[in-house]
Amino acid sequence: MELNNEVIINNLVKRFDEIVAVNEVSLEVPAGSIFGLLGPNGAGKSTTLRLLCTLLRPDSGTASVAGHDILEEPVNVRECTGVLPEEGSHTLYPSLTSYENLEYFAKLYDVPEEEAKKRIEDLLKFMDLWERRNDPAGELSTGNRQRLALCRALLHNPSVLLLDEPTSSLDPIAAKRVRELILKLAKQYGQTFFINSHNLAEVQRLCDYIAIIDEGKILLSGRTDELRRRLQSKQVFKLRVADNIETAKSIAEGLDFIFDVSIESDSLMLTILDPVSNNSVLIRKLLNANIAIIELAEEEMTLEDLYLQVIKEEEQ
Ligand SMILES: Nc1ncnc2c1ncn2[C@@H]1O[C@H](COP(=O)(O)OP(=O)(O)OP(=O)(O)O)[C@@H](O)[C@H]1O
Ligand SMILES: [Mg+2]
Repeated sequence: MELNNEVIINNLVKRFDEIVAVNEVSLEVPAGSIFGLLGPNGAGKSTTLRLLCTLLRPDSGTASVAGHDILEEPVNVRECTGVLPEEGSHTLYPSLTSYENLEYFAKLYDVPEEEAKKRIEDLLKFMDLWERRNDPAGELSTGNRQRLALCRALLHNPSVLLLDEPTSSLDPIAAKRVRELILKLAKQYGQTFFINSHNLAEVQRLCDYIAIIDEGKILLSGRTDELRRRLQSKQVFKLRVADNIETAKSIAEGLDFIFDVSIESDSLMLTILDPVSNNSVLIRKLLNANIAIIELAEEEMTLEDLYLQVIKEEEQ
């Protein structure tokens, strides 16, 4: 079966004077999937998203959203996309209530009045904001405000949602809640999500597809499960020992499946190739040398580790 791509980007370029913010980017996002564009500050995520929602014009290249070309049919593109910009909650009117904000934006989007009423109620209930409907948006917590901004993006029933760092200003609990709601939306209504993030753990939890962008260029892209498998072939572990850390270090350094051995306070940081087969070998060697192991724990990979690994792999 051929996949129907809801977002297609072909060699998109956007320059700001001498900065090439988006440099020959090509991507495809299958309909109904959650796609994560992952990258550090200044990588070009927001610029890519602004090009897709027709707020910016590319210098060259093309893109289409839900079958509509961003240059030829910008009005159609806007009709079928819902956008949560960076600092999305700042686009709400603080003195209007949650309900009034949505009512106002529904009018802007030309949603017929009766339909708007029903949709606003459904969305506020879906996002657990119905009880807050008469509170001024400016008095909502950051998490509630972000969920209200999501309601706003969904008002005109778009088939594609473009979300720029939807959880970056939220505490871990509020962020988790937003992620759960995105997953619930995707499951219930099957929209396509294009999500910018600089949080590797977040996109791994949320997205079916991931692309990594840095300095305007896509470093790699693919299905999350494939990417994870590829990354799991080599992993960083923390080995905590009761004493004799120097002996443990020289044992680790003598093993050909261990790289980058370093000491961090009472622990050794080890990059282990194929840990599923090799960790038991390491543990056996350490026990034979009478080293008291307190723990051998997997480190959560950070975005930085991932870049380093991808860049190293490319150099090889
Ligand atoms: N309107 C603009 N004028 C000039 N330069 C810009 C403009 N918008 C973005 N840039 C530059 O383009 C590059 C990419 O910026 P962009 O905002 O797309 O990055 P980002 O990945 O969204 O970063 P962040 O994680 O900080 O939001 C940066 O070097 C930025 O300074
Ligand atoms: Mg940004």
